[in-house]
Amino acid sequence: MAQIFHPSMNIVARVTIFGAIFFAAGISLAGWAFVNSPYVTQVNVVREQAVPFSHQHHVRELGLDCRYCHYNVEKSSSAGLPTTEICMGCHSQVWKDAEVLRPVRESFAKGEPLLWTRVHDLPDFVYFSHKIHVAKGVGCESCHGRVDEMPLMRRAASLHMDWCVDCHRHPELAVRPQADLFQFGRNKSLLGGVSTEPLMRAAFTAEGQSAPGTRSIPSATHRKSSDTLKSGSELVAEYGIVTRQLTDCVVCHR
Ligand code: HEC
Ligand code: HEC
Ligand code: HEC
Ligand code: HEC
Ligand code: HEC
Repeated sequence: MAQIFHPSMNIVARVTIFGAIFFAAGISLAGWAFVNSPYVTQVNVVREQAVPFSHQHHVRELGLDCRYCHYNVEKSSSAGLPTTEICMGCHSQVWKDAEVLRPVRESFAKGEPLLWTRVHDLPDFVYFSHKIHVAKGVGCESCHGRVDEMPLMRRAASLHMDWCVDCHRHPELAVRPQADLFQFGRNKSLLGGVSTEPLMRAAFTAEGQSAPGTRSIPSATHRKSSDTLKSGSELVAEYGIVTRQLTDCVVCHR
């Protein structure tokens, strides 16, 4: 009896099946890549601003504390952006004729605030508070990354829900002693959702810390990473953080 399908059709069938599998995998990979791409998450994307303000310059080189400009960060849900008066406190004397600072001088003269384009912006249905996080030992670096190394502001994290929840499941990987909150370069933090990575925060002891507002010079006294987790949980207990309740929907959607 004549074969209905020529043997070569087996190859065609295989190719089609493999093709379909690869195609499906490709689509989901592309979807994943899209959701996690800078296009969606805005991670590392720099926004155009009227004045190219450099955190690296003002924080790292001049040694200004975050609270000098974001003075509400410990007191209210929003960290707030500095008023023109704060800039003019210095720039009425230094670089007072610089062209890049003209919008600052104009804003001051007219009494109109500078309009900064927001880099971080959660949807309205999400509740977030800086005050709570700072009070419970989450440092700026854990969410904003190496601000002290940013010539222009950019996002270090996606601000997606799973990013928030990852840390709410394991706050012991992020919490720091109060003296460390405004320090930089001490941990790998939770950026990129690598929440299981043992953090370096507690790798440095309390000695050798520099005062707030000065450059952070990591102490040379290292500890083993097994202690890192332990002291993280100790801190969680000290701050009275109840991890069990932190992932409830009402925490962030009230
Ligand atoms: C001299 C004032 C000054 C100091 C000090 C300062 N900032 Fe800023 N910061 C600004 C200004 C101005 C902006 C708005 C322009 C921009 O986004 O670059 C800003 C923006 C930001 C933003 C993004 C805001 C948004 O649009 O979402 C973050 C996050 C931030 N600062 C964190 C910090 C941290 C952390 C520190 C301490 C290490 C710090 N800043 C110190 C002036 C300052
Ligand atoms: C504590 C003093 C101080 C404050 C407050 C301050 N600046 Fe500066 N700023 C400086 C100094 C000093 C320089 C650099 C001079 C130099 O490079 O020699 C500078 C430089 C700059 C430059 C030039 C580009 C660069 O980064 O080198 C810009 C733009 C600028 N500042 C914007 C601002 C804005 C906007 C604010 C308010 C949010 C602000 N500054 C607040 C001291 C200050
Ligand atoms: C737990 C994560 C987290 C920590 C810790 C954190 N931030 Fe933020 N920050 C955010 C998020 C999320 C936003 C966006 C808030 C929004 O859109 O309502 C933001 C926004 C900001 C803004 C823009 C203005 C505003 O309040 O919306 C500034 C400035 C800022 N943060 C500075 C800081 C500084 C300084 C620290 C350290 C004391 C800090 N942040 C610690 C997550 C964090
Ligand atoms: C790096 C760790 C970390 C990240 C990232 C983080 N949080 Fe938190 N969050 C904490 C800790 C620690 C607490 C303190 C829990 C407590 O009060 O016991 C907290 C508390 C809160 C609370 C108050 C809970 C209460 O006591 O009612 C809210 C709301 C909240 N976070 C929202 C968010 C949102 C929204 C995001 C993402 C945009 C976020 N958090 C990202 C660590 C984090
Ligand atoms: C720690 C804070 C946090 C917790 C807890 C949390 N969410 Fe969210 N949620 C967010 C943030 C931030 C966003 C906005 C960013 C995003 O879309 O990922 C969001 C977005 C959403 C959205 C809109 C999604 C979209 O694509 O626009 C829904 C629906 C939602 N959350 C439901 C829930 C439910 C249900 C729970 C409880 C199982 C929950 N959330 C717990 C922070 C949280």
